Amino acid sequence: MKYFISGANGQLGKEIRDSAKEYKNSEFDFFGRELDICNKTELDNYFLENKNFDYFINCAAYTDVEKAEQEPDTALDVNYKSLKNIIKVCNDHDITLIHISTDFVFDGNKKSSYNEEDAPNPISVYGDSKFKGEQLISDNCMKYIIIRTSWLYSRYGNNFVKKIIDISRKNDRISVVSDEIGTPTNAADLAKDILFIAEQKLQKNSKTISKLYHYSNVGSISRYEFAREIIKTAGIDCDVVAVNSDHFNFMAKRPKNSILDQSKIIKEYALHIRSWDDSLKECIKNLASDEK
Ligand SMILES: NC(=O)c1ccc[n+]([C@@H]2O[C@H](COP(=O)([O-])OP(=O)(O)OC[C@H]3O[C@@H](n4cnc5c(N)ncnc54)[C@H](OP(=O)(O)O)[C@@H]3O)[C@@H](O)[C@H]2O)c1
Repeated sequence: MKYFISGANGQLGKEIRDSAKEYKNSEFDFFGRELDICNKTELDNYFLENKNFDYFINCAAYTDVEKAEQEPDTALDVNYKSLKNIIKVCNDHDITLIHISTDFVFDGNKKSSYNEEDAPNPISVYGDSKFKGEQLISDNCMKYIIIRTSWLYSRYGNNFVKKIIDISRKNDRISVVSDEIGTPTNAADLAKDILFIAEQKLQKNSKTISKLYHYSNVGSISRYEFAREIIKTAGIDCDVVAVNSDHFNFMAKRPKNSILDQSKIIKEYALHIRSWDDSLKECIKNLASDEK
């Protein structure tokens, strides 16, 4: 298999770099900012000069949920408009697009977990830009897989797990919201499973593929419970106080419930997805060894 990976210096992109080492017979081209997905000419030229890709894995995104409220045009450029360029190269060169989306496409009002049939209703600029990107793909891309994930963290990049470790080391007590529940996702697990799915070659013979999946680790918790577990696992002495989200002056609204139901992707690809706490333990172990 031959893969093109955009946004390869983000947390998921770096985890895909690590997982790719397992696939010695496949070829991977990784690109960070040096190949701007918003630049149609750059993308077109790259794919005219470099042929025979099977997959385009789009890990590039505008992911700063708060900043997106102030910079809606930039969020839309990266999370929505750039997809016109990506869809074009995928359609022109018979490439399957694997695109990553988010639980933030939902408004959070559902009382149980969200499955792929539930109607999105984003409540933030970020969520709206990601949903518009999804719609562009489903309306125009010949072969695609969209994977919505949630609460992504990794040993790489900036994320909730690393932030909680950092602030809990500097403080005796921290406040974390308890009225947001969801499903954490270790980007290392997602990266492994994306490549596992792609290597199954299911789509080789079909002219079109359109699939939407939800992916996260198994189990659901509040941000507060997640923070407590992070601190306990990392062996840090710090109290965690549960607060409502209106305690913080966030600009972006976040879904109160964004638990994803992963049963479709588990069933179709016979995946064994770990529970959120087992996966968290491994990430914290890796972070500790990175610090040595
Ligand atoms: N993080 C989460 O909690 C979360 C939750 C649900 C879904 N997701 C989705 O999961 C996917 C991966 O997220 P992540 O956490 O790995 O994101 P990330 O760490 O922020 O990485 C995104 C990468 O995209 C790059 N990028 C931004 N604009 C670009 C452009 N125009 N051209 C090329 N590269 C560009 C960024 O570069 P710079 O670093 O230079 O900006 C960054 O390296 C995204 O689609 C995101 O929406 C994330």
